[in-house]
Amino acid sequence: MSADHPAPAADDQPIVITVDADDPRYGFGVDVGGSGVKGGIVDLETGELVGDRFKITTPQPATPDAVAATVAQIVAHFGWTGRVGITLPSVVAGGVVRTAANIDKAWIGTDPYELFGRHLSSPGLSVLNDADAAGLAEVRYGSNDDDVDGVIIMLTLGTGIGSAIVLPGGQLLPNTELGHLRVGDDEAEAQASSRAKEVNDWSYKHWAGKLSRVLAEYEMLFSPALFIVGGGISRKADKWVPLLTNSTPVVPAILRNTAGIVGAAMAAEARMRP
Ligand code: BGC
Repeated sequence: MSADHPAPAADDQPIVITVDADDPRYGFGVDVGGSGVKGGIVDLETGELVGDRFKITTPQPATPDAVAATVAQIVAHFGWTGRVGITLPSVVAGGVVRTAANIDKAWIGTDPYELFGRHLSSPGLSVLNDADAAGLAEVRYGSNDDDVDGVIIMLTLGTGIGSAIVLPGGQLLPNTELGHLRVGDDEAEAQASSRAKEVNDWSYKHWAGKLSRVLAEYEMLFSPALFIVGGGISRKADKWVPLLTNSTPVVPAILRNTAGIVGAAMAAEARMRP
């Protein structure tokens, strides 16, 4: 067995697997989003991907069977035979998908374990909310958080706002959906997602004011020790984090676009079923 990074393969060529799927050091995660389904092998000691991630455009309509077939294609691309973690932009609780953001509404009410079990021959699956996966990964592997003593709230600022609340000790409080909390007249994600900034053509300053108000509301409810902010807009964090006026420190995510994959693999390794 070797942990060497495999040579990048052309998109339609199966990658020759270079790690042992039975070695608990390695896991596999797939992150399902409205525009892409991305997966890869994860080194759970470092939180890094082994080789490249592989991305397929999300099928439209993004129905359960179409998405599950895409997930199976990604797993097969790597020849992976171990446990698989899968994220959805959904509340996944009690073995049922309860919401569907940017994927087909046919997901609502489905049993994701039955669904993915039909498409994959994996020895074990974990299916969880995308922001929850990102939060697990950022808190464990992001170098920001080593000295944080208290609750950490991870927010993914994108089309919507995803949230993960991670308790001291690394345990997740799943499915918190803080983006849908009403702050003033509107849901948080209508005011403080990066989409809200874009569609309203707000300056960083104006948007940072909106986000500060949302963060202040979360502070009042949860008294976190730290906010971690992810999503594409976190790459430009230097433009807007200094403009925030809430009191809890805010740091940009470190793993960025691999966090969902890494967190999914962590959940599968921990046999998590939120
Ligand atoms: C959904 C969440 C999801 C987030 C990011 C929100 O609109 O309600 O479940 O985590 O978007 O995809």
